Amino acid sequence: MTVRESVLDAIGYTPLVRLRRLGEGLRPTIYAKLEFQNIGGSVKDRAALSMIRAAEQEGLLSPGGTVVEGTSGNTGIGLALVAAHLGYRSVVFAPAATATEKIRLLRAYGAEVHLVGDYVPRSHPGHLANRAAAFAAGTPGAWLARQYDNPANPAAHEASTGPEIWRDTAGGITHFVASVGTGGTISGTAKFLKKASSGAVQVVAADPDHSVYGGGDGGAKYVEGAGHALHPESLEDVWPEAFDTVLVDRYIRITDRDSILTARRAAREEGLLIGGTSGTALAAALRLAEELDESHTVVVIIPDSGRNYLSTYFDDEWLTSAGFSDPAEPALSVGSLLPGPAAGVPILPAGLTVGEAIQELVRRGADCSLPAFLALDRGTSFGAVHPREVSAAVTLRSLAAAVESNPRAAFSPAAQQGEPFASVGIGTAVADLAQHPGQLLAVLVDGRIAATARQPFAGPDRSQEPAASRGII
Ligand SMILES: Cc1ncc(COP(=O)(O)O)c(C=O)c1O
Repeated sequence: MTVRESVLDAIGYTPLVRLRRLGEGLRPTIYAKLEFQNIGGSVKDRAALSMIRAAEQEGLLSPGGTVVEGTSGNTGIGLALVAAHLGYRSVVFAPAATATEKIRLLRAYGAEVHLVGDYVPRSHPGHLANRAAAFAAGTPGAWLARQYDNPANPAAHEASTGPEIWRDTAGGITHFVASVGTGGTISGTAKFLKKASSGAVQVVAADPDHSVYGGGDGGAKYVEGAGHALHPESLEDVWPEAFDTVLVDRYIRITDRDSILTARRAAREEGLLIGGTSGTALAAALRLAEELDESHTVVVIIPDSGRNYLSTYFDDEWLTSAGFSDPAEPALSVGSLLPGPAAGVPILPAGLTVGEAIQELVRRGADCSLPAFLALDRGTSFGAVHPREVSAAVTLRSLAAAVESNPRAAFSPAAQQGEPFASVGIGTAVADLAQHPGQLLAVLVDGRIAATARQPFAGPDRSQEPAASRGII
C-alpha cells in the first residue's frame, strides 16, 4: 500500500484506467486518467496546491492569510482543502447555478461561499471575478488565486499530470484529450508531453459546442467548468493566460446533449461515474478513436466525478425538465401543445423601438400566431438559445399595446413588453404544469428554447391527495 505523509501528498498520482467497454469496437487503446481520485475530488487540486505554494514562496500569502477565488467549484474545493490543511481562511465566489453538491462541499471544507449572478458581463462589477478581486483588495492578508492567469496553474500539470501520463503509458501515448476551462490542464500537460515526445503527441481540446475556444458563438452551456462563454455585453473577449492555444492541434466540439449522455453512458456501461466535462472529453476521445488504429494510444482526462452532478445530469427528472430526454408519453407531454416542429423561436435584438421590433418580426416573416418571441442581446435570427440568455419573452399583444401608446418608445423587453415564462422540457408531462393555467412556456429541446407554448388548462385538482404524492415533503 502506498503511504502518503499528508493530505497534500495525496494530490496527484492518479490512475490510468483502460476503457474496455466504451472502447469496444474501436481500434486504439483508450485510457481515462481519473482525476477525481485526487484527495479533493478533481483535477483542480493540483492547480490549487501549486498556486498556494507559489504564493507562499513569493511572499503573497503568509500565516493568518486569506485565500480568495472566483470559481465554479472545483478550484474552490481544492483551494479550500489546501487552505484548511495549512491554516488559511478561504473565501470563494461561485456562480449561483453551481451544482449544490459542490457548494456544500466548499462549506464542508470551511470555505465561506458567496453566490453571485450567473450571467453577467466580464466588465460588470457583479461578475464573480470582479467580486472576488474587490473582496481580496479590501481584506488585509488576502491573496487572490487568479487561476485563469496564474502561471502556477499550468505549471502544476507540466510538473505532475504530464510526467504521470508519460510514465504510465511508458511513453506510448499518441493522443491527449482534455476539456478546457482555464486551460491549465491542457496547456501544462501538453507542454510536457510535446517535449517528451519531440512534438509527436497530438493534443485535442474537447470543447462544448457553444464555447468560443472551439469556434462557437459564446452562448451559455450546461457543462460546468469547461468551455468559454461570452456574455453579449462583454466589451472584449479575454482568453485566459493559462491557456496556451499554440499547443492545441485540434478542437472537437461536443454538444451539451452528447456530453451529458456520454457521462451517463460511462456510468452504466463502464461502471465509471464521471462529470459533465468528463463526458465532453470522453465523447471527443471516442470520436477521435474512430479515426485511429491499433498503433495509437489515447489518454483522456476525467476532471471530476459524477457524484457532483447526481441532482442534475444523473437525475431523470432534471434531464426531462431540460429537454434532454425523449418524452415517455408524447401525447401527454408539453410537445403535444406545439402546433409544429420545435425548430427555434424568433429572436428580437436589443436597441429597437417598439415599432421597429414589430417591423423586424414582420420582415423576418415571424408567425404571428406564436405565443411569444424571445428578446435577447445576442443574435438577430431564429434559433434555439439557453434560457439564461433570454431577457424576456415578448408577445405580439404586448408589443401592439405598447406601439399604440407610443410607437417610438424604446423596446424594453424586461421592463415593459415582457411576460414571465417558465422553462419546461419538451418531454415534461402537461399534468405537472397544472398549477399555472395560461402560463407562457419556453419549451426546451436539448437544453435550449426551441418553441413557446401556453399551458392550456388547470389540470386535475390534486389538492385532496396526500402531500407526498404531490411532491411536497
Ligand atoms: C469539472 C471541470 N472540468 C474541467 C475543468 C477545466 O480544467 P482547466 O481549468 O485546467 O482547463 C475544470 C476547471 O475548473 C472543471 O472544474
